[in-house]
Amino acid sequence: MADEKVALYPGSFDPVTNGHIDVIVRASRLFDRLIVAVGTNSGKKPVFTPQERQDHLRQVCRNLPNVDVSSFNGLLTEAVTIFGAQAVVRGLRAVSDFEWEFQMALMNRELNSACETIFLMPKPEYSFVSSTMICEIARFGGDISPFVPSFLARDVVNRLQQP
Ligand code: PNS
Repeated sequence: MADEKVALYPGSFDPVTNGHIDVIVRASRLFDRLIVAVGTNSGKKPVFTPQERQDHLRQVCRNLPNVDVSSFNGLLTEAVTIFGAQAVVRGLRAVSDFEWEFQMALMNRELNSACETIFLMPKPEYSFVSSTMICEIARFGGDISPFVPSFLARDVVNRLQQP
């Protein structure tokens, strides 16, 4: 479709959380097509490979017909051009996310003037859920099942509790 509105939702998704899923569903209602793309956050040490994270996302998005799952290497601003996206979607959980996200949005627009960022707020019940915290809880034997899709909880625990 020539005038199709495409959005790119980039993230580490390591692992995908119920908060991410909430944002995916919201964004999928706003755009003709949503591409959820696994990118590299050089400040994080990955638990799952990019391929594994894409597999998790594909399972999560299997009933969302206008959502595709992909990945990108390098800069988000380049991915925006490659995927032909008109907007980048990012989730804002709390004010504490804002400063970094605001800076990243402005820097991305500086690097690529076509890179507009749209922030979506997940439900308040997900405002404290983060992949990093989920990994920490799993590592020490806590229950992560309320925070991740049910098919994934066991995989996260197995991955993090390996000797
Ligand atoms: O889920 P995350 O870890 O907050 O996602 C961060 C991600 C992957 C979107 C971000 O680190 C990213 O865009 N990485 C690609 C390299 C890049 O463009 N960095 C931003 C420069 S301002």
